[in-house]
Amino acid sequence: MKVKMAVNGTEHERDVEPRTLLVFFLREQLGLTGTNVGCDTTSCGACTVLLDGESVKSCTLLAAQADGRAVTTIEGLATGEEMHPMQRAFREHHGLQCGYCTPGMVMAAVSLVNESPDLDERQVREGLEGNLCRCTGYHNIVAAVLDAARSAREGAW
Ligand code: FES
Ligand code: FES
Repeated sequence: MKVKMAVNGTEHERDVEPRTLLVFFLREQLGLTGTNVGCDTTSCGACTVLLDGESVKSCTLLAAQADGRAVTTIEGLATGEEMHPMQRAFREHHGLQCGYCTPGMVMAAVSLVNESPDLDERQVREGLEGNLCRCTGYHNIVAAVLDAARSAREGAW
C-alpha cells in the first residue's frame, strides 16, 4: 500500500507493507535513525515522535495510521544549527548519559511542555512516566524539562 506523510516538513510517499510500524518506516525507509527502538512493546518510549504535534510511541502505530498526517522526529526539532530549547536544556543540565533514551525523552518532553508549560516537578515526572532511562536516575532530565518549561513560559519557544 502507499502511504504519504509530511516528516519534519517534507512530504514523503512510499510503498509499504500494511504491517509496517511507523518506527521502522522512519528508520528504514526514510533513514531517520535518531528515533530508537528500545523494546518494541510500547514500554520504553525510546521511539517517541510527534504526530500532528502530540507525542506517540512510533512502535505502537502502523505507518498506515500516519497516512496524511505530520510527523516530527528528533531530526526535525532543531532550526538549522540552532538547537531546540529542550535540546539545549538537556545539554545544560546533563540530562543524558548513553543517550539511547534521549531522542524519545526529548520528544515526549516537548509535547508535554507544549500541552502546558506550567509544570511542577511531580507533573514532569508523571508526564514522562512512559519514557524509561537506564542511566540518569531521572533527576537531571526533570531539571532540564523544568528549565525548558520555564523558558517556554517566558516566550522563548
Ligand atoms: S520501542 Fe517503542 S516504546 Fe519501546
Ligand atoms: S541516558 Fe542512557 S538510557 Fe537514558
